[in-house]
Amino acid sequence: ITVNVIDRDGTRTEGVEWNSSESLMEALTRNKFPILATCGGNASCSTCHCYLGASAATATANSPIGDEEEDVLDMLDDTRHEDSRLTCQVEWSEELNGAEVTIAPEW
Ligand code: FES
Repeated sequence: ITVNVIDRDGTRTEGVEWNSSESLMEALTRNKFPILATCGGNASCSTCHCYLGASAATATANSPIGDEEEDVLDMLDDTRHEDSRLTCQVEWSEELNGAEVTIAPEW
């Protein structure tokens, strides 16, 4: 599938490939977006934080927010929005094809 990614400077990139073996974080880092993923995908660093817009509900239906992710998102204060996700916890799903992914500000 592909997603559209809005970078921190507002640049929008369409058709970013996301392979079924990857988390959303892995797809973003492979495509060289500025996601540090310091914790390696363990829902503990928050450097993979993105906003999923209208696709957040679909993402949550397929890979619900777990306790660890909830704790980390809780610490983000004003950069946490309703559609916030740690992208390392968002699993590939066909229904996310065409999703709009906005990279959250640096912490
Ligand atoms: Fe660290 Fe997602 S990579 S929280």
